[in-house]
Amino acid sequence: MRSANKLAIPALLVSILLFLYIYLRERGNSRRMEVRDSLFKVNGLPALVDTLQLVSTNSNTTSGVDKEALLQHLSERYGPVSFVGIGPRNINLTPEEENRAATCLQNAVRDRDNNGSRFWGKNEHVRRTHHTYLKNENAVLIEAGGNKGNDAYEFVKLYNPRYIILEPLEEYTNILKEKFKNNSRVTVVNVGLGIKNEVVMVNIEGNNACATSKFSGANGKTPLYITNATEFLMKLGVGLFNVDLLTMNCEGCEFEALETILSTNLINYIKNIQFATHSTLKGLENPLGRYCKIQELLRRTHKPTYQYRFIWESWRRDDLL
Ligand SMILES: *[C@@H]1O[C@H](CO)[C@@H](O)[C@H](O)[C@H]1NC(C)=O
Ligand SMILES: *[C@@H]1O[C@H](CO)[C@@H](O)[C@H](O)[C@H]1NC(C)=O
Ligand SMILES: *[C@@H]1O[C@H](CO)[C@@H](O)[C@H](O)[C@H]1NC(C)=O
Ligand SMILES: *[C@@H]1O[C@H](CO)[C@@H](O)[C@H](O)[C@H]1NC(C)=O
Repeated sequence: MRSANKLAIPALLVSILLFLYIYLRERGNSRRMEVRDSLFKVNGLPALVDTLQLVSTNSNTTSGVDKEALLQHLSERYGPVSFVGIGPRNINLTPEEENRAATCLQNAVRDRDNNGSRFWGKNEHVRRTHHTYLKNENAVLIEAGGNKGNDAYEFVKLYNPRYIILEPLEEYTNILKEKFKNNSRVTVVNVGLGIKNEVVMVNIEGNNACATSKFSGANGKTPLYITNATEFLMKLGVGLFNVDLLTMNCEGCEFEALETILSTNLINYIKNIQFATHSTLKGLENPLGRYCKIQELLRRTHKPTYQYRFIWESWRRDDLL
């Protein structure tokens, strides 16, 4: 009894310190997020409606989205829209899906090698030239991982869609804003997509920071702003309208972003979804297995329109095929 009592006080102290550490760290992160959110409101999203302002000024909100006001606003702009609600989806694989995922995993390294050597060089431009439907005047393109805007430049030149570019590094956000400041159809937002709202301190890596990832250099000096993909898309009003293309080239963020989006029926509002897979990043948990599961979840609603497995691919909603 006595020795147990002696341990109780140090144990309590350690718990309190641990709690304080976690609490302060979370508070720091949420402060940074608040700053980010206020930037959001100031900049607005001119090309795609000012839905974020709308959400923040009205108190009748559900999951952060004022459905009535949003509906009215969007219907004025885009014609009639219907909102059926975003809810969770069953993400357990059926036995048949499990089998396919197992085969996918068995062939993963072979497919990655084969498809990588086929894609890079002569076929890599398909990720830009594939999306002619974006020429439609009302087409909405969302890109996660804008970097310096090399792909963005091509998308604008080819299609000039309503375009939201997401970039988690502030320095590159500013470069993108400068690059597209004359184009009112382009909006740049300093945020990346992931599983939850968080600020990760990273080290800048790679040529043009293009390899900077939340998975490589934690404990660095540069903040990476990441947001819950589902929540972000809902705040934009996705679910009340369709996104024509969500494209992601975001250094491993694709796993968390896809898993988050595929865990709800929000995926039904994304007509085309394109992503690069970064399966060799250190610090990523089980990338090949997760890729194979994502394939199965995506396959329930979409089918590939081009696919270099484990490299780059694009999927289209079944009703549009
Ligand atoms: C919220 O909705 C209710 C019912 O539709 C309405 O009576 C109320 O005025 C609304 N409040 C605001 C602030 O819009
Ligand atoms: C990817 O590699 C597999 C073989 O590993 C091959 O069957 C498939 O055709 C390749 N895909 C493309 C688009 O080249
Ligand atoms: C934007 O437009 C101004 C005035 O027409 C022009 O001087 C400037 O070079 C343009 N900037 C870019 C980045 O195209
Ligand atoms: C992400 O946002 C959605 C929609 O608000 C929510 O249901 C989900 O729990 C969030 N995920 C996490 C990990 O916070």
